[in-house]
Amino acid sequence: MKRRVGILISGRGSNMLALIEAAADPAYPAEIAIVLSNREDAEGLVLARERGVPALAIPAKLFKSDRVAHEKALQRELERAGVEIVCLAGYMRLLTPFFVEAWAGRALNIHPSLLPAHPGLETHQRVLEARDTEHGCTVHLVTKGMDEGPILAQARVPVLDNDTPETLAARVLAEEHRLYPAALAQYIHTLRNETLDRNF
Ligand code: GRF
Repeated sequence: MKRRVGILISGRGSNMLALIEAAADPAYPAEIAIVLSNREDAEGLVLARERGVPALAIPAKLFKSDRVAHEKALQRELERAGVEIVCLAGYMRLLTPFFVEAWAGRALNIHPSLLPAHPGLETHQRVLEARDTEHGCTVHLVTKGMDEGPILAQARVPVLDNDTPETLAARVLAEEHRLYPAALAQYIHTLRNETLDRNF
C-alpha cells in the first residue's frame, strides 16, 4: 500500500515535480495526496494540478504574524487529505515547534548543500567563497533547528574551476531531483508496517 505524502512548496516546485513523477510509478511506495503552498503565486501549484494532484495555496499573509494559525490551516488540509508523511520541497517559511512536533520523524526536507556544511540560504555562493571542492544536497528529517535534523541521504557533485553560483545550482538541482524520490522511498521502506496514524 502506498503511503500518503503531502508536499509543502513556496515556488518553482521542481523537487515536488520529481516526487510526483516518481510516485506515478505503481511500484513506488508513496502517492502524492496534496501539495500546499504558503504563496498563491507558487509556480509549482500549476505543475501539480496539471498532473492531477490537488494543490492549494494557504497564503501566510492572511494570518499576518500568527505562524501557528497558518500552520494549523496547513495541518487541517494535510489531515483532510489523509497525509502520513510531509515532504518540504523549497518551502521557504520557518516552521514553529507546533508543526515540527506534530510531524516529528514524519517530515523530510531537501537542502542544497552537504549538511552540516552550509545550512541556510545562498549555499552555492557560499560554497564558492569557501573554495570547497565538493558540493551536493541532503535529505534530512525536519527538527526544530533549521537544516539540522538527522541525515537520511546525500548526493555529491564536484565544484569546477569556472563554476558560478548558477552552474553549481544546476548541477546540484539535477542531483536533488534524483535524490529526493530515492531517499523518500528508502525512508518508507524503513518504516515497514508501522502505522502512521496521528493524533490530530
Ligand atoms: C531547492 O534547491 C531545494 O533544495 C531548496 O530550495 C530549492 C527549491 O527548488 N530547499 P524547487 O522549488 O524544488 O525547484
